[in-house]
Amino acid sequence: MGKGSGYGKVILFGEHFVVHGVPGIVSAIDSSTDAIVTKAKNGLIIKDERKTAKGYSEEKRLQQIESIERMLKAMELDPKTPLDIWIGGSLPGFSGLGASAASSVAIARAINEEFNLSLSNERINQIAYEAEIAYAGNPSGIDNTAATYGGLMLFKKNPAGGQDHIERLKIQEPIEIVIGSTGKVANTKAMVEGVAERKKANPTKYDPLFNQAEALAAAGCKALEAGNLKEVGELMNENHKILQEIGVSSIELDHLVDIARKQGAIGAKLTGGGGGGCMVALTPSKELQEKVANAFKTEGLEFLATKIGAITH
Ligand code: PMV
Repeated sequence: MGKGSGYGKVILFGEHFVVHGVPGIVSAIDSSTDAIVTKAKNGLIIKDERKTAKGYSEEKRLQQIESIERMLKAMELDPKTPLDIWIGGSLPGFSGLGASAASSVAIARAINEEFNLSLSNERINQIAYEAEIAYAGNPSGIDNTAATYGGLMLFKKNPAGGQDHIERLKIQEPIEIVIGSTGKVANTKAMVEGVAERKKANPTKYDPLFNQAEALAAAGCKALEAGNLKEVGELMNENHKILQEIGVSSIELDHLVDIARKQGAIGAKLTGGGGGGCMVALTPSKELQEKVANAFKTEGLEFLATKIGAITH
């Protein structure tokens, strides 16, 4: 029996743009997915006990099987190796929180232990990236990196396929956030493909938006490290606007963003692939966090009240 776990994450700046080599800012959150893997006799049996948005497990089932086969192949094991896999942990299966990457890191670590492969964290991260291809088509690698290492970081994909740029950000203290879930399951792969297609078809519209995303990530980095949270919030609001422009927000996400801002969140934006899934509100103080969380509760929405920069290793 082998065990493993992987962190969930929240993207503060640059989702989607990061796929195309623009830097993104991500923080691991203190919720993780755990996995237990045992060698079996017949086929692949997955017992997925995560709390999820309705329909999440069914919608992701085929991608999940493909992701496990991809990982086994990357570990130089037979992709059809019979395994019993249990998945659970505190990270809910909501779209946008890097749940697929967290589960892939957890499963990769559990396989590593069960088969005594002695893989480094760097290899686990590469293997989880292989798994992410099943879920995202052309992933940036930001999710598996946060799931593997934790922390708050600036991430820039290496378009040539070599080492990605990972820079840890230092903030004065962890900052309260509220993550709100629309309850809608999104297909990250379709969302990523949609942006790539629209970008190709309309460079006049998209090129300036990509430049703006790059500027926002740079400014976001500075503001976070300087502890200028008002500025961070304003930049997040700007980021939400350009995510709307590239067609990845939704009525539900915009509604949650509005609720959070009305309650006093100093910034709010969708987080992750969009098209459903989750949004994040910057709520620096316990009181403000509770106010936004209570508003979500009143609307019957699922949420996570957590912090960025709390997982430091
Ligand atoms: O929705 P999630 O948690 O899978 O996040 C996807 C983030 C994207 O930037 C849209 C894709 C990626 O691989 O970076």
